[in-house]
Amino acid sequence: MIEVRDVYHDYEGKGAYAVQGVSFTIPDGAIFGFLGPSGAGKSTVQGIMTGLLRLQKGSVRYDGSDIGSMGRSFFQRIGVSFEHPNLYGKLTGYENLKYFAGLFQGPTEDPMQLLDMVGLADAAKRRASAYSKGMKQRLVFARALINKPSILFLDEPTSGLDPATAERIKALILEKRDAGCTVFLTTHNMLDADRLCDTVAFLNSGRIVAMDSPRELKLAYGSRSVKVETRVDGRIETHTLFPAREEDRNQLSQLISSGTAETVHSQEATLEEIFIKLTGRGLG
Ligand SMILES: Nc1ncnc2c1ncn2[C@@H]1O[C@H](COP(=O)(O)OP(=O)(O)OP(=O)(O)O)[C@@H](O)[C@H]1O
Ligand SMILES: [Mg+2]
Repeated sequence: MIEVRDVYHDYEGKGAYAVQGVSFTIPDGAIFGFLGPSGAGKSTVQGIMTGLLRLQKGSVRYDGSDIGSMGRSFFQRIGVSFEHPNLYGKLTGYENLKYFAGLFQGPTEDPMQLLDMVGLADAAKRRASAYSKGMKQRLVFARALINKPSILFLDEPTSGLDPATAERIKALILEKRDAGCTVFLTTHNMLDADRLCDTVAFLNSGRIVAMDSPRELKLAYGSRSVKVETRVDGRIETHTLFPAREEDRNQLSQLISSGTAETVHSQEATLEEIFIKLTGRGLG
């Protein structure tokens, strides 16, 4: 279990907090999504949780142990992909993974197998500097898995990828979760968050403004509606009804019981709509 409590971070020591009072818990084997617009503080929180940034205020605990008290073995347990690919351009894809594998004392994955998994087997012998942006990103993702981590930190793992490659990465994230990994996922993409995450936290200007499962967030903040199509004299009419309103509920049951309803679709609010409602701004 990961417990983050009341974390603050001030990069310049001038009282301008990039994150403030951030608290959440991630149970083992869960995918936790951190959602928010650019500059919200997502990467800052990941930096603190992975020991890249010094913890200034608050606490970060892994299975009850403070991050400050954990030795090098901590780095054996975590896999991290950064938002800016940090690869060795002069080394090939294979050599990059081989090099990073050598930094770990514990068991590591076979680089070739990882390259194959992310669709880079054919590019294994090419220099990373000659990789496209999406290829670099896949290599960074593979690198995060090299030390067989039980906790994965993924900063925007699908941004800038074509839909098919993004799907592949998402499927791999779910596979890792199913194999017991805990995942901290940072994203702008509310559809990814909705599909992948057990819990989502909305971050805005350094603060968590809402946190729950995507389903609960939609139930709590979104207004569900029902779209009913009826056929009257051969013409299709569309009615949008809100079950929260009594008159709409009555109309809905009347349309269904009279048999005039041809199709009935319940429509959920999207996470993006809820985020805009809560913060007055989009996720872009
Ligand atoms: N090294 C740094 N020095 C000073 N300020 C920084 C530094 N890194 C980030 N910040 C500031 O901290 C705030 C949060 O930045 P952060 O990178 O955590 O946001 P983010 O949510 O990851 O954004 P994005 O979606 O663009 O990646 C921003 O106001 C940013 O300008
Ligand atoms: Mg970021």
